[in-house]
Amino acid sequence: MTMRSSSETASLLDGLRAFIEPAHLRTDADSCLQYGRDWTRLYSPNPLAVALPGSIEQVQQLVIFANHHRLALVPSGGRTGLSGAAVACNGELVVSLERMNRILEFDPVDRSVTCQAGTITEALQNFARDQGLSYPVDFASRGSSQIGGNIATNAGGIKVVRYGLTRDWVTGLKVITGRGDRLDLNRGLIKNASGYDLRHLFVGSEGTLGIIVEATLQLTRPLREPSVMVLGVPNLSGIMAIYGLLRSKLDLSAFEFFSELALRHVLKKGPHRPFDSATPYYVLAEFENPGDIQTDEALELFEHCAEQGWLADGVISQSGNQAKELWRLREDISESIAEHQPYKNDIAVRISRVPALLEEIDGLLAREYPDFEVLWYGHIGDGNLHINILKPATMEPAIFAKKCGAVSPHLFAALQRHGGSISAEHGVGLTKKPYLHYTRDESEVNYLRAIKQAFDPNGIMNPGKLFD
Ligand code: MLT
Ligand code: ZN
Repeated sequence: MTMRSSSETASLLDGLRAFIEPAHLRTDADSCLQYGRDWTRLYSPNPLAVALPGSIEQVQQLVIFANHHRLALVPSGGRTGLSGAAVACNGELVVSLERMNRILEFDPVDRSVTCQAGTITEALQNFARDQGLSYPVDFASRGSSQIGGNIATNAGGIKVVRYGLTRDWVTGLKVITGRGDRLDLNRGLIKNASGYDLRHLFVGSEGTLGIIVEATLQLTRPLREPSVMVLGVPNLSGIMAIYGLLRSKLDLSAFEFFSELALRHVLKKGPHRPFDSATPYYVLAEFENPGDIQTDEALELFEHCAEQGWLADGVISQSGNQAKELWRLREDISESIAEHQPYKNDIAVRISRVPALLEEIDGLLAREYPDFEVLWYGHIGDGNLHINILKPATMEPAIFAKKCGAVSPHLFAALQRHGGSISAEHGVGLTKKPYLHYTRDESEVNYLRAIKQAFDPNGIMNPGKLFD
């Protein structure tokens, strides 16, 4: 915990007010609470203040000031993260990019857009749509997450099977490094074989190397009339068998799964069951289907899967609205369980390893969590599973976290045996920092430390996150 006397605090705030307007330097309790936390709700926010710079120059001034005073900075986007990477609980200055939310440039020939880091994901998606194009990286928090945060966490989401991760769409980045230098990385180029690509170091860096202030992103053509199927699956083993078949015949843009236990939480909030019968698991598959040309193929595949016993029931959307309703069954899970303060696991293995991993951890979770409600869902087409353990209402959060934490080494050891990652898309932040070694060995982490040292020699950029 950073201990400062009140005169030290006052003098830091005075120094900041010399170049940040008072209205954009907030110290009130509510701002400190809202901007000092993310969606984890596990840590008590305690920032020094919240700065809302309005220009790249101001961000640079802030970083130079922070170096001078050894003031820790926490870059802040939409704070929809689930690993505590945007949490400020140690007297840091939160640097919110939310005022820097303008789309600056669009080039129809390059099919690229340049925007400030605080641009909301959905605003960018809408902008692309208005140009007849698409920014295809998508997830449920699109309405509040920001592009800078998406890049800093290499956000994935629900369309990765077709479109890849945020990294695949970033063609240029302007950053202020932890040293206070301004770098203009890759400048929108598709090809650029001129040495180390520093842009990619900032993708997924979780605010530990510097502050992303501007991004150039590639756009693509929109999906043509996607159809959505939800299939009821009796056994975990059927899920990947269905995936193998569907991806060989359909132009899949999503392949998601969720358990009946997860679905029940969504149904409590309004949506209806996709069909009468309940099955332990469901898959949601989206595929491009212009003029219904793939509908017959999809129905044949459905029949085949049913004959094999891989699925028990299913539904295919008949309209765009029905497709949206079906998507809600998957997309609304996270929000519908938030009140149960879930302990979140976000793991990944290669697709070919999913069946073996599922079999191993299914037994492990049943054994280790006999008294807790364990929900499964995720982007299984990418090899990414979300396993959420719900806190019993009467259990103290600290006791719950301890009990869940005690299981993690077993889960992560299994994951390690299958060559997987302890974080597929939520990031490491604070919650997964103790487990990083299951995925990155010590010599690799030493290289990460050396890179951090090069960009942030005074350790002011989001200290304590990702690794120590
Ligand atoms: C999701 O896939 O719904 C998001 O990653 C959020 C979550 O895992 O809760
Ligand atoms: Zn996810």
